[in-house]
Amino acid sequence: MSETRSSLHGEWSSGMIFVLAATGSAVGLGNLWRFPYLVGENGGAAFVIIYLLCILLVGLPIMIAEITLGRRGKRSPINSLRSVALEEGRSANWALLGWLGVAAGFLILSFYSVVGGWALSYVLQSLLGTFQGITSDSSTHLFETLVASPFSVLGWHTLFMLLLFGIVAMGVRKGLQRAVTILMPLLFVLLILLVGYGMAASGAFQEAMAFMFQPDFSAVEGGTVLTAMGQAFFTLSLGMGAIMVYGAYLPKHESIPHSAGWIVGMDTITAILAGLAIFPIVFAVGLEPGEGAGLVFITLPIVFGEIPFGYLLGLLFFVLLSVAAITSGMSLLEPATSYLTERRRDGSRLKAAAIISSLIWLLGVACGLSLNALSGITVLPGMNIFDSLEYISNDIMLPLGGLLIAIFVGWRMRLSSVVGELGVNENGALFKLWLVVTRFVAPAAVILVFANATGLFELFG
Ligand code: PFF
Repeated sequence: MSETRSSLHGEWSSGMIFVLAATGSAVGLGNLWRFPYLVGENGGAAFVIIYLLCILLVGLPIMIAEITLGRRGKRSPINSLRSVALEEGRSANWALLGWLGVAAGFLILSFYSVVGGWALSYVLQSLLGTFQGITSDSSTHLFETLVASPFSVLGWHTLFMLLLFGIVAMGVRKGLQRAVTILMPLLFVLLILLVGYGMAASGAFQEAMAFMFQPDFSAVEGGTVLTAMGQAFFTLSLGMGAIMVYGAYLPKHESIPHSAGWIVGMDTITAILAGLAIFPIVFAVGLEPGEGAGLVFITLPIVFGEIPFGYLLGLLFFVLLSVAAITSGMSLLEPATSYLTERRRDGSRLKAAAIISSLIWLLGVACGLSLNALSGITVLPGMNIFDSLEYISNDIMLPLGGLLIAIFVGWRMRLSSVVGELGVNENGALFKLWLVVTRFVAPAAVILVFANATGLFELFG
């Protein structure tokens, strides 16, 4: 049945466009904002090593599984899971896994859009020359004023959501594909320019290399591994159906393992390059790398205010950050939008996108306000709305979604279906390796890390 099904939403015009779009989804605030500060907070290279292991042992195999599932189903994650499960003789309840993904997408995009809005606002600040000669205090003040002002936070969040809505409403070819073919080359050029500057001009490139590649394992705790794994899922956009829905638009004869290899490779390189673009300039002016979420929005403007060509570099950096956030945000909006489009009798993507974007916008308003007007409200103990949503979605829902995807593809689909979709030889060594990792290693890793982080081991110890 899956052989005759075609995507209702259209297809990418080639496998390369799919790789570009999925890389656009993967490369985002997670690489340019989150990864560098997590490295800074978690002891540098030790974190990088654990993170790379998670990418290789868990991320890559699950990426292959998720694309396989998407292309087999050719629908939104909810409907793909339902039809593939039924075709494989399994329960239609597997569709719940699609719902889990759609819910995760809602939660993630609601805070992602707030941060995406900050990136847009910093493009304006760079243009205005605000960073020139800025002191540490005034940079902190600038950021805190932005975050503390409901009006600014919500205004930029609204602009960010409107951009995403505009792109997603236009559909796969005219919207998503057109956006990534323009924005992704721009993103790579900007990143390379910034790394080039860090290497050539800062004088602190060696120090940054040492920070990122010489491990100090004393900074590692149980929670560090969960953070690294959560980050691996987040940065690769795994476990919530974004990659699945992009996979649904992948033309039949394009190779899934090759595409996955490219996406994972490009995402990892971008994260490392982001570190190599950011740390040299941070060290060059004697600032600290462990500034947490403020690294990009507080520390970097100080740097841009001091170094030669800082005006231009600051502008380039924040345009880069905005572009990366937009191409990821699109993929967070697509799973729910594609589902609602499929459900609507008129099949209107425009209306579906409008409804979903408005709902997410509303949740984003709560997130944005939790940093100022509603900061007294806690959801999880000690965490405001923003931090709670980030924790629940990144550290719990994505790994859980990924675990279930690995179990479904590894254990519940017929081997012949998987082999057919992957277009590989059942006896090939690489296929066997992937199967073992997907069936055993990736699920075990996710479960162990969960158990460790939630203190389950202590119950037995
Ligand atoms: N991968 C994106 C990033 O690193 O910023 C974030 C993301 C996008 C997560 C899409 C999940 C997702 F489905």
